[in-house]
Amino acid sequence: MPPPVAVYGATGHTGRLTAAELLARGHEVVLAGRDEKALHALADELGGRARVRHAPLDDPAALRALAGQAAVLVHCAGPFTDTGRPVALAAAEAGCHYVDHALEQHHTKWLFDELAGPARRAGVTMITAMSFYGGMGDLLAGAAGAGLSDVERVVTAYAVSGWRLTTGARRTAELLFADTRRITHDGGEQHVGYVEPRNAVFPFPPPLGPRTMIAPVPFPEVVTVPRHVPARRVEAQLTARTFEEEQAFTSEHADAATRAGSEFTVACQVITADGGGGAGQVSGRDLWRLSALAAVEAAVRVAAGDGPGPGVHGPAEAFPPAAFLRDLERLGLLTLTLPGKAER
Ligand SMILES: NC(=O)c1ccc[n+]([C@@H]2O[C@H](COP(=O)([O-])OP(=O)(O)OC[C@H]3O[C@@H](n4cnc5c(N)ncnc54)[C@H](OP(=O)(O)O)[C@@H]3O)[C@@H](O)[C@H]2O)c1
Repeated sequence: MPPPVAVYGATGHTGRLTAAELLARGHEVVLAGRDEKALHALADELGGRARVRHAPLDDPAALRALAGQAAVLVHCAGPFTDTGRPVALAAAEAGCHYVDHALEQHHTKWLFDELAGPARRAGVTMITAMSFYGGMGDLLAGAAGAGLSDVERVVTAYAVSGWRLTTGARRTAELLFADTRRITHDGGEQHVGYVEPRNAVFPFPPPLGPRTMIAPVPFPEVVTVPRHVPARRVEAQLTARTFEEEQAFTSEHADAATRAGSEFTVACQVITADGGGGAGQVSGRDLWRLSALAAVEAAVRVAAGDGPGPGVHGPAEAFPPAAFLRDLERLGLLTLTLPGKAER
């Protein structure tokens, strides 16, 4: 049997999709989180095929014991501002590989700054932002920017409609937009401080066309992209209409079928100093399923020894980005367009 994988935050929407997919792929699964009753109810729902481990965030020993039971821990509980550090620390300390869904910039920066050394010494592979927001932008930047030098600007632009936020996503969005200590990457350097959001226009290719964007949005590409694309400026943007949709913030109790109705296009422009560069795009439906299965893909590869090796990695550092996106396309999760890039 393939090695056991722990899912922290298994009772959430993303956690459930993750656990169900891992079971469908024949993995032994440990359902973990803070609510023991809800975890047992989920185990019953999944046909009694998964084990349960109660491990609240304020119990480091329980978190370490959980991580000690698994080859990989997929962290699906959020906001990561609250949940990120204790779970990641437990994985590193217990020698368990780790994949997360964080879109919080400060969590991602903290992982690179504080856990890269311990992870390397412990032989642990940690992959952050392996999800829809943050993850698709980083993978596209890696695919579109491969081989380019003298890069002036990387923009990752998310056009999303029909997004019905879960409790975790709503809390995450509220915390992110209230945070005045935003990380930006400008002039080839990382900065932390207040940034006045503006409206920009991003030229999505037809049929979408130019759209009004919130720019910047505080996504983790400013931390992950400069690690593999030598860009002077990196910015993430999101269509302004996404949060204007009536039910975006009032859909905590939406059912899974309604949630599956989201539509997305993520485009990336890599612009070099001479005005050339590269571009790429993914589009599809159901950003939740894409998020869960991207993390599952990463976790099963790491569990099988096909990961990037010990240390902390963003998505495009962890796996060859164009090939990884094409694998997600083969799973029916998205359609990939990479103009001028040969199949790799
Ligand atoms: N980057 C992306 O594109 C992307 C995609 C999907 C998800 N995410 C992130 O993943 C997280 C979960 O999203 P979701 O949509 O699955 O949310 P959700 O359905 O509301 O589930 C949230 C999960 O987190 C757990 N949780 C929350 N606070 C906790 C705490 N203090 N201690 C322990 N567990 C806690 C919840 O446990 P209870 O059931 O006990 O409340 C639940 O299992 C969010 O942070 C979201 O931003 C990111």
